[in-house]
Amino acid sequence: MTDALAGVRDHYRATGLTQRLKAALAALGPEDRRLAPEQLSSLDQFHTRGLAATTELARLAGISAEMSVLDIGAGIGGPARFLAATHGCRVTGVDLSEPFVEAARYLTGRTGQSGQVSFQSASALELPFEDGSFDIALLQHVAMNIADRPLLYREIRRVLKQGGRFATYDVVLKGESPHFPVPWARTPETSFLLTEAATGEAIEAAGFRRLIWQDDTEAAKAWIAQLRTSGPPPQPNLGTVMGPDFRELAANLGRNLMEGRLGILTAVFEAAAIR
Ligand SMILES: C[S@@+](CC[C@H](N)C(=O)[O-])C[C@H]1O[C@@H](n2cnc3c(N)ncnc32)[C@H](O)[C@@H]1O
Repeated sequence: MTDALAGVRDHYRATGLTQRLKAALAALGPEDRRLAPEQLSSLDQFHTRGLAATTELARLAGISAEMSVLDIGAGIGGPARFLAATHGCRVTGVDLSEPFVEAARYLTGRTGQSGQVSFQSASALELPFEDGSFDIALLQHVAMNIADRPLLYREIRRVLKQGGRFATYDVVLKGESPHFPVPWARTPETSFLLTEAATGEAIEAAGFRRLIWQDDTEAAKAWIAQLRTSGPPPQPNLGTVMGPDFRELAANLGRNLMEGRLGILTAVFEAAAIR
């Protein structure tokens, strides 16, 4: 494992996460009471605009029940559970962080979806799947943690069927370097942001054709403005997952967006023939 990957894994090490979640979720009822995926959305949608962003990305990607979906950098599995519940598809999630994968499996047990949604710990740069295994690949707020973008996008292209779709929702560099710490990196050493244009070029060079290209920075800024008024959602929330400094990390994301340093990109690509 490279130093960069080890640093990223360390950032998401979340010691004792499943135990923390068990304790926090006791407020929603006993262990054997089934939870609806949406009940977890304040803690398991680890990206700007939360559940609204996942809903929109799934719509743009055109997910339907017969499709097999891969969620790369699946976090604690919120998007995967939501997609399976709303679209009826099977979802496989992979993540670098073992505590996140363990927590994702636990939460999926709590929502009764373990037959439809599964998780493995793996790197996005070495996906443990055969070529052409999936109809859809999702990447939400993960690329900014990955230095080797050409390899990342080639791996995603490899595991997609020809004609399959790759939907990405990520943070991009728009101006000066961001203020740290941010939710994906406490220091610049584990943050690998690209501009919108460089992101598009790297994806296309890996064998993709652009279908949808959307700058969602203004929507993200509106969401930040609303959060500044309302305050963070009640516990359990992403602070339960990432620890007590999450408020500071999230505040810096807002500041970077508002100052025009960072932007948010939504894009959908079709997997072209591999030459
Ligand atoms: C900000 S979280 C987003 C999680 C999830 N996609 C979501 O939106 O709820 C970033 C996730 O990417 C994962 N990640 C970062 N680099 C990775 C890599 N090289 N391979 C697999 N997962 C990675 C992290 O462990 C973390 O769970």
